[in-house]
Amino acid sequence: MSAGHAEARAADAPRVVTATLSPAWDITVTVSRLDLGRSHRIGPAAGRLGGKGINVARVLADTGIGAYVQGPVADEHRPEAARSAEVEASTGGTPVWDLTPTPSRLRCSYAVVEGSGRATVLNETAFEHPPEVWEALTDSISRRLSEPAVSVLVLSGSTPADCPEDFHSNLVTAAHAAGVSVIVDTSGPGLLRAARAGADWVKPNAEELNELFADVDLIASAGELVRAGAGHVLVSRGEEGMVLVDRTGPRSSARLGRVLQGNPTGAGDAAVAGVARCLAAKSQGPEPARLPDEDVRAILREAVALSASAVLMPQAGQVHPEWQNLRHEVVITKEQA
Ligand SMILES: Nc1ncnc2c1ncn2[C@@H]1O[C@H](COP(=O)(O)OP(=O)(O)OP(=O)(O)O)[C@@H](O)[C@H]1O
Ligand SMILES: [Mg+2]
Repeated sequence: MSAGHAEARAADAPRVVTATLSPAWDITVTVSRLDLGRSHRIGPAAGRLGGKGINVARVLADTGIGAYVQGPVADEHRPEAARSAEVEASTGGTPVWDLTPTPSRLRCSYAVVEGSGRATVLNETAFEHPPEVWEALTDSISRRLSEPAVSVLVLSGSTPADCPEDFHSNLVTAAHAAGVSVIVDTSGPGLLRAARAGADWVKPNAEELNELFADVDLIASAGELVRAGAGHVLVSRGEEGMVLVDRTGPRSSARLGRVLQGNPTGAGDAAVAGVARCLAAKSQGPEPARLPDEDVRAILREAVALSASAVLMPQAGQVHPEWQNLRHEVVITKEQA
């Protein structure tokens, strides 16, 4: 192969590895209005393989950044992943599926989306995996981290109860050894473990922070995660936007200049994809202790525009094609340290 060809291949190679610890078969039902306690007649329900990291990978692929999809998924569901890939190939970018086999059944997630955009989601708890599945998943992710093009690892979604305690810390160590930045979007003890492991970025929403620290002050709670070891804490606050706190204190908050009507499920995943896009665009290597203001603004602009554009789409993992224009509507306010 000529050097030119090798370069072209490297440019196309996935730059982000996403891992979904609790993937699901996502079933979306659309109704004009949900009347609790009543029967409803519905059109065909759309089903596809989904989960937080998968949403991130779909947004990345759709916006031109190659991403691997890692996660424990039974062989019997591989055809569904293949079918998802076929549909995606016809509608936009396709993430690269690289799933780890498990004998456990895939959980289901049911979303009822009303005409107003309001979504009611019922999430089945993840089924346990044998310990060797977690080992195989760690190995599979670690192998991808050593690929020269890979510069970002995203660990997203709820952390199942049977996930080994050192899962996040092992992967953060492996990622850092390979010069790869780590973004973790999870909740509960998994979020605290990720911070303690030294994740470069964590992205809790306000509810997840409150659940962990029971403190009404979000900046103070975000500071707790920084003190635990996280490099940057990006707190998302629904339609009120997001705020970034790092080791030097609160940096900036950002929001779209208007509130959008739509389905906010997956908006946080699109925000994570925005951060991953910015990190993947930079050369590999350790991040500076304090990101320059210009980089903070660029990351916030990307995260707010992508997450807002996700609200405009009916399904999680999709972004509106006009998302780049929304960047001009992002209002950024510098926080006082
Ligand atoms: N109605 C809205 N209008 C404009 N922007 C919105 C709206 N809702 C959410 N956003 C944007 O999306 C970002 C992420 O939303 P949110 O805080 O709800 O994430 P989340 O709870 O983690 O979502 P999920 O876990 O379902 O992906 C917000 O920080 C904000 O920038
Ligand atoms: Mg979220």
